[in-house]
Amino acid sequence: MTLTLETPLLADPAQVAADPSRYRVLTGDRPTGPLHLGHYFGTLLNRVRLQRQGVETFLVVADYQVITDRLSPGEIAANVREVVLDNLAAGIDPSSTTVFAHSSVPALNQLLLPFLSLTTVAELQRNPTVKDEAAASGLGSVSGLLLTYPVHQAADILFCHGNLVPVGDDQLPHVEQTRLVARRFNERYAGGRAVFGEPQALLSPAPRLLGVDGRKMSKSRGNAIALKATADETARLIRRSVTDARRDISYDPAGRPGVSSLVEIAALCLGVAPEEVAAQVGGGGSALLKALVTDVVNEELRPVRERRAAFAAEPGLVSSLLRDGAERATAIAEATLADVQDVLGMSAY
Ligand code: TRP
Repeated sequence: MTLTLETPLLADPAQVAADPSRYRVLTGDRPTGPLHLGHYFGTLLNRVRLQRQGVETFLVVADYQVITDRLSPGEIAANVREVVLDNLAAGIDPSSTTVFAHSSVPALNQLLLPFLSLTTVAELQRNPTVKDEAAASGLGSVSGLLLTYPVHQAADILFCHGNLVPVGDDQLPHVEQTRLVARRFNERYAGGRAVFGEPQALLSPAPRLLGVDGRKMSKSRGNAIALKATADETARLIRRSVTDARRDISYDPAGRPGVSSLVEIAALCLGVAPEEVAAQVGGGGSALLKALVTDVVNEELRPVRERRAAFAAEPGLVSSLLRDGAERATAIAEATLADVQDVLGMSAY
């Protein structure tokens, strides 16, 4: 029997910072629309920080995941472009980070087949994020792709031997599933040899933000402050946000979710504790709080928006970086697929 040292599901950020060369990041976005403030604090800043620490980074634009929970792909080409521009604007540097779309890396997608063989239907049916997405889709039925996309995500992570996955907590079940796939592949097919390592998730320090209607901030709910929104659109959205009638501002996420979410957003922009923001606004009421949040969000996003506009004005930029990324990702995916097929005995005929 081989003894392997188990790594915990959650990575320790201090350990990553101490030895960035031991890590390879794979993370990604579904191109269903422009990214928003929730993505910015939840994951974009995290991935840019890792990139700057010198961690090798891969970014998948998960275009096949768009059609997991809807009847048509929508404006997929435009949305892919938005997502890439948002990442560039946040500080992703395509000369050091590989950015590619699922659809342009066939060998990655082919890994889905052997990985599905290592996954049970019961595991997929239990996945809480899949269940939530199925319920939110409003379709009344679950597509085979929605049920199995966590395994597709395992292929995203394992094709490049990514060992660090910066994500929100809703993605933890998928990282767990990926770890199971890796472990079972090694045990069942590779005789205990560690062909795949078990990746770790890296949670962002920022909590999940609420949208201006008090529900989770989400592209599809129209309650999100998009990174690319103008300062005026941002002001209008924040003015609309749901608060309460009490004049004194406090930080009480359970009791006063609307007010606390605004306090939280200001605190993230200012880099201070939420309690400090609440104390500062004090008896100024929602109007003063909203004015403060508008100012600090627009201030935080001003350089991001300027960079975004500059990138958007460069003709062919997004297509050419996706082409380069696909070429790099394809070389790696083909090598991994060859290893997998070799382990399965498929290279002998
Ligand atoms: N499922 C992720 C989301 O909805 C996007 C994604 C696709 C992803 N592949 C990934 C995230 C691999 C992390 C790792 O946001």
